[in-house]
Amino acid sequence: MYRTAEDPWSLAERWYERRKYDLTVAALPLPRYRRAFEPGCSVGELTRRLAGRCDSVLACDRVDSAVETARRRTAGLPHVSVRRMLLPEEWPEGSFDLVVLSELLYYLDETALDAVLRRTVSSLEPGGTLVTVHWNHPVAEHLTTGAGVARRVAARPGLVLLADHREEDFVLQVHQRAAADGHGPAGVAAREGLV
Ligand SMILES: C[S@@+](CC[C@H](N)C(=O)[O-])C[C@H]1O[C@@H](n2cnc3c(N)ncnc32)[C@H](O)[C@@H]1O
Repeated sequence: MYRTAEDPWSLAERWYERRKYDLTVAALPLPRYRRAFEPGCSVGELTRRLAGRCDSVLACDRVDSAVETARRRTAGLPHVSVRRMLLPEEWPEGSFDLVVLSELLYYLDETALDAVLRRTVSSLEPGGTLVTVHWNHPVAEHLTTGAGVARRVAARPGLVLLADHREEDFVLQVHQRAAADGHGPAGVAAREGLV
């Protein structure tokens, strides 16, 4: 797809995508994150929005031209770095307090999906946030749908579901990595002292 178009899904132009990105960022339960990881970043449109809420963002994609475009579109954001990386074999060092898996997991076969989810949970700090958002209609190249991805994520130990936003077109979920003391997550209102 990238051989014939710089941005094959018109991610910058489509109202559908821009609205979904806004919903994705709005669903983040914390106002700020220290270090975010966004694999499968494509041309960096969601990356640009995440950059507004994070002290640093590491984004990656398997396709060279996507990495180049994402670098160009985030050039004015020195706290964003974009690397070429093929998941799950390649994975960044260190831990993250936010991982965003957007329109990525349905490209992975059973084994790769399992490995990506395992590596995601182990690189999330206790209490860290995982966002998953995926198209829910069947597509020839997709091995599952948004609802199928949600079932796979639900089966992964170590995550607690905080939010589950479902539309006809996509499924957006927010999870928290279980805290080290085993305590459940505090909601946003509790953190703000409202309840
Ligand atoms: C539909 S785009 C999603 C872009 C972006 N996450 C968003 O939501 O706008 C999926 C991207 O995932 C990348 N991708 C697919 N499999 C990958 C893998 N195993 N490792 C890294 N990137 C991958 C593709 O190259 C493509 O750019």
